[in-house]
Amino acid sequence: MISLIAAVGENLEIGKDNHLIWHLPNDLKFFYKTTINHKVIMGYNTYLSIGHALSNRTNIVMVDDKKKVTAQDVIAYDNIEEMIAKEIKNDEEVFVIGGASMYKYFYPLANRMYLTLVKASDKDADTFFPEYRKDSWHKKILQENIDNNIAYTFTLFEREK
Ligand SMILES: NC(=O)c1ccc[n+]([C@@H]2O[C@H](COP(=O)([O-])OP(=O)(O)OC[C@H]3O[C@@H](n4cnc5c(N)ncnc54)[C@H](OP(=O)(O)O)[C@@H]3O)[C@@H](O)[C@H]2O)c1
Repeated sequence: MISLIAAVGENLEIGKDNHLIWHLPNDLKFFYKTTINHKVIMGYNTYLSIGHALSNRTNIVMVDDKKKVTAQDVIAYDNIEEMIAKEIKNDEEVFVIGGASMYKYFYPLANRMYLTLVKASDKDADTFFPEYRKDSWHKKILQENIDNNIAYTFTLFEREK
């Protein structure tokens, strides 16, 4: 099963200058707790932005030239169909953790979205989560939060159609 996990602003913004927009420590804890012991799939820009493999998870990076990924604790793929065939099984939850190119590709294939809905916007954002149809998903609010004066909500969307 494929799940997307992202922190998104009011205008679906997710990034700026290849970094996250907001620093939300409790969201990072939620991300860790949700993805621990699972496979996490990311694009090369997100891998560069994080700067290292995420601990206690199998890190899978999509990249055009696998030689660019030298870290031993990361599995690099240059072919997305091959990656899906080898790494994604129906009986395990795998997490697509960004960025925009990965969310866009996997949106039609995902059954779940763990979206941290941030009650803020940033007009300088340059990277966005795909538009999604609200009536295609059952929305469950998991927890309200506030960090650095920014309110946000952990939300689980499960696909209905
Ligand atoms: N708010 C959040 O929750 C969140 C989460 C994650 C990321 N982000 C943000 O999102 C932004 C990055 O997003 P992005 O869309 O620019 O980059 P990305 O999706 O992280 O990476 C895109 C790159 O991945 C490689 N790639 C993607 N699809 C591929 C395929 N099918 N085959 C081979 N290689 C493939 C290519 O790298 P090469 O061409 O270089 O090989 C491509 O340029 C950053 O600002 C980051 O902070 C936000």
